Parts: sequence; C-alpha cells; structure tokens
Amino acid sequence: MKIIRTYSLLIIVLLSFENSRAQQLKNMKKNPEIEQKIQALLTRMTIEEKVGQMNQYNGFWDVTGPAPEGGSAEKKYEHLRKGWVGSMLTVRGVEQVKAVQKIAVEDTRLGIPLIIGFDVIHGYKTLSPIPLAEAASWDLNAIKKSAEMAAAEASASGINWTFGPMVDISRDARWGRSMEGAGEDPFLGSKIAVARVQGFQGDNLSSPNTIAACAKHFAAYGFSESGKEYNTVDIGTSTLHNIVLPPFKAAVDAGVRTLMNSFNELNGVPATGNVYLQRDILKGKWGFNGFVISDWASLNEMITWGHAKNKREAARLAALAGSDMDMEGYVYIEELAQLVKDGVIKEAILDDAVARILRIKFELGLFDDPYKYCDENREKEIIGSKKVHEAVLDMAKKSIVLLKNQNKILPLKKEGQKIALIGALASDKNSPLGSWRIAAENNTAVSVLEGMQQYKGNELLFEKGPDFFIGESNFLQEVKINTTDKSGIKEAIETAKKADVVVMVLGENGFQSGEGRSRTELDLPAIQQELLEEVYKVNPNIVLVLNNGRPLSINWADKHIPAIVEAWHLGTETGNAVAQVLYGDYNPSGKLPMTFPRNVGQVPIYYNYKNTGRPTNKDNNVFWSHYSDVEKTPLYPFGYGLSYTTFEYSDIKLSETSFKIGDDVNVSVTLKNTGKVTGKEVVQLYIRDLYASVTRPVKELKGFELVELKPNESKTIHFTLNKETLGFYNNIGDYVIESGEFEVFVGGSSETTNKAEFNLVD
Ligand code: BGC
Repeated sequence: MKIIRTYSLLIIVLLSFENSRAQQLKNMKKNPEIEQKIQALLTRMTIEEKVGQMNQYNGFWDVTGPAPEGGSAEKKYEHLRKGWVGSMLTVRGVEQVKAVQKIAVEDTRLGIPLIIGFDVIHGYKTLSPIPLAEAASWDLNAIKKSAEMAAAEASASGINWTFGPMVDISRDARWGRSMEGAGEDPFLGSKIAVARVQGFQGDNLSSPNTIAACAKHFAAYGFSESGKEYNTVDIGTSTLHNIVLPPFKAAVDAGVRTLMNSFNELNGVPATGNVYLQRDILKGKWGFNGFVISDWASLNEMITWGHAKNKREAARLAALAGSDMDMEGYVYIEELAQLVKDGVIKEAILDDAVARILRIKFELGLFDDPYKYCDENREKEIIGSKKVHEAVLDMAKKSIVLLKNQNKILPLKKEGQKIALIGALASDKNSPLGSWRIAAENNTAVSVLEGMQQYKGNELLFEKGPDFFIGESNFLQEVKINTTDKSGIKEAIETAKKADVVVMVLGENGFQSGEGRSRTELDLPAIQQELLEEVYKVNPNIVLVLNNGRPLSINWADKHIPAIVEAWHLGTETGNAVAQVLYGDYNPSGKLPMTFPRNVGQVPIYYNYKNTGRPTNKDNNVFWSHYSDVEKTPLYPFGYGLSYTTFEYSDIKLSETSFKIGDDVNVSVTLKNTGKVTGKEVVQLYIRDLYASVTRPVKELKGFELVELKPNESKTIHFTLNKETLGFYNNIGDYVIESGEFEVFVGGSSETTNKAEFNLVD
C-alpha cells in the first residue's frame, strides 16, 4: 500500500473541537444571577466557613436521635452546627436527610444547605444490573432510563448527588471494579458516560427528581498495575489521552456537575494531588466549572503513598491541585484554615473551590428550598414503584449476552419438558443484587428459580447442589469459598439424570467483584467446575447461566456445554429477565463490553491492541508476538454476542474512496435478518488508521447502532465518520487528524473482517 502522507503534514485540527467546545460552553455557561449570589455569600463567609464547605462527612449515626457521647459523631454534630460541613454522604431517607439538613440550615450562622451524596451506582433501592452488565446492552436509551429511575428513587429519599457514573476504562478482568464501569472501550465508554449523566441529571438539575452526577475516578484507576486494587498506575501519555480520559471529557461536555478523583497515583503523583489532571486538563483545557470531590480519605492516603509528609502538606497539595472537597478525610477541616492564615495558600484558592460547590447547590435549587428532596409522599410513591420495576426488568433483559447456542438448545420449549435447575445461585435472592447496593434490602432479587417457576408448562426439578460460598456475604468482608464440602453433588447428578434439559446457574457471588475484590483466578470459583463436569457426564444437554461481575475464563464450558448465557448480576428483576430469555419471550441482543480471556495469563487482553512489529500470522512459528501455550485469540472478543436469529452483513459502501480532512466519510452497510424470529443486532463500525505518527490500534470502535429486524427483513445502516472520530491524541495530548490510508470494518463483533478502504488527504 502506498503511503500518501508525510508526517510533516501532520495537522492539528482545532476545528474538530468547534462542535464539542460549543456544546461544552453551553453546558458550562454560568448563570449570572447565581454567580452574583455566590460572590455575595463569599464576602460574608469566614475562612473557617469556607473550609467547612470543602468538608464532607459520612453519616453513620442515627441523626434523628441524640448525639452519641464522645467519638467522632459528636464532633460531626458540633461541626454541622458551626457551619463547618458542606456535605454529608450515606445519610438517607427523608426523615434522616431532613434532620441533618435542618441543622445546617437552621442552626448555622449562614444557613447554607448541605449537598447530600450517595453511591447510587446501579439503582438505589430497586436495583438495575451492575453497570458492566448494562454496558453489554449497548442500548443508550435504556441505560439513560435506568439512571433516570435510579435518580427518581434516590431523590425521593432525600439524596441530591450520586457518586456515579464510574467511567474508568479497564482492560483487566482481575480488577474487581470492572463491574462498576462500561468495560474496555473508550468510545462505548464515552457514549455510556453521557447517557448516565443525562439520566441522572436530566434537563433541569433543580427538578426534584434529578440529582447531580459525579464522573469518577479521575483518573486511570482502571489501570491499576496487575489488576490489583488500589495499586500503582504507570501508563504512557498515549493511553492516558486516548483511552483513559475520553469518557471523562465526554461526561464534562455533557455537563456533569462533579468529578471524583481516585485512590491511585498516576506516574508517581497521587490523583488527589495531581495538578496536571485537575488544574491543567479538567479545569483548564476542558473548562469544567463544577467541583471535584476526593475519594474516601484519599487526601490522607497521599501520606501513605509517600507524597505528602503530613496532613498539613496533604491539605496544601490537594487544595493547590484542585481537589475541592475532602471526603471523610478530616484533612481540610484540620489544616486548611491555618495554611491560609500562614499565607501558604491564597484565600483565592478557597474562594474558587467554595464557589464551585455553592454553584452546584444553587443549581440543585437547595437555596430556594433545602427540603425539596424531602417529600415523604414522593418517597412512598416512587421507591419500588411499578414504573421503576418495569425499567429495571427491561434493562436486565437487554444486558444478557448469549455466548453459545449449539443445536438451538435455546430457547427452551415451553411445554412437555422436564427441566432440571441446578446450583445454589439459582435460588439465591441476594447474590444477583451484585456489589454496590447500600440502600437495597438484602435478599430482594427475584431468583432464577422464582423466575422459571412462572413458566408452568414444564416440570421444573430444582436441586441446589453443594454450597459454593460459606456464610452470608456482605460488602465489608471477603466472600468465603467452599473448596471442600461436596455434599449435594450426588443429588444434583440424580436430578440431572431425570431431565430433558439441565439449566445450571454458576459463577461469582455478587460480592466477589466490586471495590477491594481483585482476583488472580478467573475460573468458576469454589467447587463449581467439578459440579459442572459431574452433571455433564450424566446429561450433557446443559444450559449454563453465568452470574459474574467480570469476564471469566470458562474454557472447559465453552468446549463442552452447548448453551451459555451471560447473565452477570442483573439486580432486583434477575429471575424474571433470565426466565424470559431462556424461554424465548425475549430475544437476547447483548454484546460483550469487555474481552473474555482464555486464561489469566492473557490479561490484560483487549480488542484495540497494537499490531507490533511481529504480529500473529498463521505462517509464523516461533518468533512472533504470542504465547506459546495458548491460542492467540480471546475466548470471546469484545462486541461479541449471539441472538436467537441470525444476521447477514453485505455491501459495505463508502460515499467516496478519497476524502479531504474535515469532510464527512459516509459508510453504509446492509443488514439482513436471515433467521426465523425478530431480533436486534448491535451493528458495530471500527476503523484502522494504517500509518500514523503515533501508531494506532488494529481496530477502534467509532460507531454502533442497535437495529431490530423481522425475519427476512433488510435494512441499510448509515454511519458518518468525521473530525471527532478520525483523529487521535498525540503524545502531548493534542488532538490531531493525519492524512493517509484507513480501513473501515462493519460487523457484529470486534472480530469482523468485512471491510472497505479509503484515503484521507490534506
Ligand atoms: C469509593 C468511591 C465511593 C466512595 C464513597 C470509595 O471507597 O472508591 O467510589 O464513591 O467510597 O462511598
């Protein structure tokens, strides 16, 4: 192929920012009336009161009761009364929020209302699927709706700020918090970030059923070395600008009102004290005018990291770096006022942080009515309402990914069958709620057993089999795994023998992923593999339903088990969603948002890798980039997922074969439903920029569309590639588009080989 570009023609396309910048400015536009009020308030505030606004406390005591004697709760009450607290987290329920707000508004000198934060990660009381599962839907409307419902429930409970969405990209399934994000891809991750921000915040932040969102964790937490929680992050500028930052930028452009920084250090500087990230990029280049909250005591952790010598130094570094609020760290409240009085920090730094915090409080309408999120009637009416349940059920069905369906074993016949349902997770009403569910009651998920019992045409034989996990699992302790007690396997085998089809629900406990839950093994935990193999020996007609919060390496199952359904942790409506998919009342259309490895040694494994100088090639033997003991490919690639129907792609067409930089590149493809039932397909478009001043990945997702087709129906799908999608960030963080040769791929997964080619010319 002829290289028609010289690098000297590298063009920094500032134009490409015009649109997004215009959008950004619209979102960032300050309301002059609010700004005036902020300035007026600032002039009345003492240094201590300003520091107070930058101080957030966790509320773990019963605020409607008397203050406990001694201890930090008493101190928190005292600080609240002095106006030294700007925000509380995890206080919840109208009664509790009202009580704490009353102190801030009625007992303090200036009566500045609190902003009430909470981890509304995948629903509040009624739970949606975990975020990684939702991402598998690729359905931005459904994801937005899910966030909208979560905001409706949370705001009815007094909350007006969520610590979500988490927009950390992760390529490492070992990292437990992969469950909280949208997977490995920055393009999909950015779209989902926007959908979630819009869902939480709506069009009007001051409406009583919307809440402020918080894009977290800024930045690069998903790249913790070896997937180990809270670990060092050491990544290059190319990965930082092209992979890590885009979802944050998309959230900022969509008007997200707050960001949370992260526990990790980035290239030697803790995120909380990172001037480059927070001042230069976020508040400088991106023009963000909301505020940044630290992660839980992350100011203090700068001392442990070996960056700040003591709390005073931590306060100085964090404030200068633009961390506006200290979450439960007691660093600002103890140190900041003195730093200002000593002339070490200018009061203007405080004024800027406080203005940002007050701005969001004004926008939420808290100064007009501090109790606007505290309506007992709304609380009763909205939490757990039919509307919320319908939305989370819809989201749960859309999140399911069909990984394998040999001999069309699925969907199950509705009558005349004996179905064996096996596995402790099948009757579990707690685990499917997943991690991060602080407000939800335990054991409130519809289990798979309950879901399947609603289909009465078949005989359902349930056998729990052995316990996989020991005791009750919860957020604060590690899940205990049963590796020895095999009682129950015999009964499972006997039940399987009697059945036409065996449905086995296996996988991780809901608390095996999430914060602090990194794993070095990605197989089925406990004695589940043994159970699966034993049952297979007597009845291989198995449908394996997976429950998990991260990609798993299930090689044996992939080789032997005819049908595999990825059902993640689907939240409150789990059993109904799974049953409807198994029985074909819902045709699955999910696609994986994260690559499934064959073994842990392949991790990190992701579809948008670099070609290397010695890429895999079937004729190559030893001296090429590969592992000698495992196939080069993943078990299931990014973007992969089946349906009960089949689709055919044809006619990838480009409007031209040569385009000027700045022109739109129009791509079309025809999709046909070649099966027997109506189905949805996520049509995915990838590009490859063949030669660049900074090498580009072998494929990059740049467009997708969810298309529903009846049997035999065809549709032409149109995509446009433009300035926003044809460039990349160079190693100094500037966005560039370079002329040269491109390939464009359109298909049903990242492994698609349907392609066309075009040139970009100057
Ligand atoms: C987590 C954050 C969370 C915060 C408050 C931290 O441990 O990293 O994501 O928002 O706690 O619960």
